Amino acid sequence: MIAGIGAAVPAGIMTNADFERTLDTSDQWIVERTGIRERHIAGPTETLLSFTLVAARLAMERAGVTAADLDGIVFATVTPDRRLPSAACDLQAQLGATRAWAFDVVAACPGWLFGLSIAEGLMRAGLGDTILVIGAEKLSSITDYEDRSTAILFGDGAGAAILTRAKGDGRGMLASYMGSDGTLAPLLYIPGAGSAEPLTDQVLRDKKHLVKMAGREVFKAAVLAMSRATDEAIGRAGLPPEAIDLLIPHQANLRIIEATAKHAGISMDKVMVNLDRYGNTSSASIPLALQQAEAEGRLKPGMVAMLVSFGAGFTWASVVVRW
Ligand code: COA
Repeated sequence: MIAGIGAAVPAGIMTNADFERTLDTSDQWIVERTGIRERHIAGPTETLLSFTLVAARLAMERAGVTAADLDGIVFATVTPDRRLPSAACDLQAQLGATRAWAFDVVAACPGWLFGLSIAEGLMRAGLGDTILVIGAEKLSSITDYEDRSTAILFGDGAGAAILTRAKGDGRGMLASYMGSDGTLAPLLYIPGAGSAEPLTDQVLRDKKHLVKMAGREVFKAAVLAMSRATDEAIGRAGLPPEAIDLLIPHQANLRIIEATAKHAGISMDKVMVNLDRYGNTSSASIPLALQQAEAEGRLKPGMVAMLVSFGAGFTWASVVVRW
């Protein structure tokens, strides 16, 4: 079960009006096509770990656990501060979680849901009782701020959860599902700066180290992936759509969220939306929304939430939890 959740974002905010000054775009276009109004962007001295640490400590505090209690750390990110070692190992060192194993998960936006399912599986395999699951991104480090079709979408942020064994009171993870389709990789990817084409001046000049996206095609694939993930979640949990108290979808685009809710037969008043304030924060998106839903009293103990996400890969995932 999720025993505690925490979230943190860098203080700096970039509004749609800020983009109007540098790109051929408008607040009206961005709001109408995406629903996003502003996003938090890390300053030059802020690292991924700096705001992830805040989220992790909040989650631990909420769960009433200390670093010494952690058996493991699963860190979902596509924007680690450095390539080696993992962000999870850096976090383990900063927290002083000396007993914990630690590794990263690369599954793009649904990475945190992948992380939850992996952690639950490891727990079942006897590899831990208290696991910290992080979803955190500094997407500003891989965003092309001269490309109006992607620059306006992304934000930075971190979410964290402490996963512990269910207490047998019905609360906990009721179902989980993960899917991938690597043939869709060219729709959303970073072409260079990996081992096939290591970082050179030419790679930098060609901006091959930054995200490229075929927006319209991603949109269509996203609606299909989200629909499939909600169907699987509902089916695996053995619950009718009416039993879902709150849908917490990946915060990429309001129109994708609306299409997902409609497909699942869930009315928009039961859907958590906060992309207007954060934009798309990839793996941090769901834990940020979950934390806000709990803080606002929209998610209370005993309620059922369906978490569903899609992203580059293509990847998609869903988890149903009784809070
Ligand atoms: N401001 C103004 N115009 C913009 C713009 C912006 N920020 N970005 C793109 N446009 C323009 C395009 O250049 C295009 O112009 P053209 O008709 O002259 O060629 C026009 O708007 C329509 O572009 P299109 O890509 O069809 O728009 P859209 O309605 O599909 O919206 C996205 C674009 C990116 C907002 C939308 O496709 C989307 O959200 N896709 C999913 C992206 C996503 O979720 N990615 C993350 C996955 S985890």
